[in-house]
Amino acid sequence: MSDENKIAEVIRQRQTSKVLGDIDQPLLPSGLGKDEIDAWLQTAGNAPFHHQAERLHREKLTSQVPWRMYKLDAKTCRDLLSQLSKSAPEAGKILNMLAACDALILATWTPDQCADDQLMFEGTERNMEHIAAASAAVQNLMLLATNAGYRTYWSSGGILRTPQIFSRFEIPDCEILLGAIFIYPNDVGTSEIKEGKLKDARGAIDDWSRWVG
Ligand SMILES: Cc1cc2nc3c(=O)[nH]c(=O)nc-3n(C[C@H](O)[C@H](O)[C@H](O)COP(=O)(O)O)c2cc1C
Repeated sequence: MSDENKIAEVIRQRQTSKVLGDIDQPLLPSGLGKDEIDAWLQTAGNAPFHHQAERLHREKLTSQVPWRMYKLDAKTCRDLLSQLSKSAPEAGKILNMLAACDALILATWTPDQCADDQLMFEGTERNMEHIAAASAAVQNLMLLATNAGYRTYWSSGGILRTPQIFSRFEIPDCEILLGAIFIYPNDVGTSEIKEGKLKDARGAIDDWSRWVG
């Protein structure tokens, strides 16, 4: 297969897989190593970006890119599961996902400073482009994981968005969670797997594109 066809095939293969493990009997990790995840991220980080993250975002992680990725291996996910299942049962299905995943990447983006405390972020073109760039990096990551045979799920995060979780993993509160990216093995035993609810809602190419001019 040509590289072009291979890329197209991986893009088509990527689909949401929400794997709901048993919180009392979490899956054994399949052996996905930190090195492999770091190799994916190294490549995913080639995403385009238009503006530098402001200086306040560059204290601990110093890059100018407008995204940050916090990496939880399977053991950290299971530790988080056992803590949250006692302290925060309202976390709901996030607990089942923590019971099944091989890794979880908390992907944040870096909003520009905003004078209004009430706003999550200002609706500026720069912020829009920070989010766009961070999203490109996330999609790259999911494609690389798909290519390696893993299931992926981009979740808004639920409880993973909260200050409790940010503080536990020392994620600066000036960052905003863009997605909690669950990575699961292909073989998840008898765990329930849910597809994305909008999977078949795209319509045809002519429903969302047209030639102009
Ligand atoms: C920014 C973003 C946030 C998402 N958050 C959720 C979520 O919280 N819950 C959920 O069920 N799906 C979530 N999804 C996944 C979508 O439901 C899924 O992509 C969509 O249904 C299309 O299915 P597909 O990914 O299989 O193509 C999210 C996707 C994106 C891009």
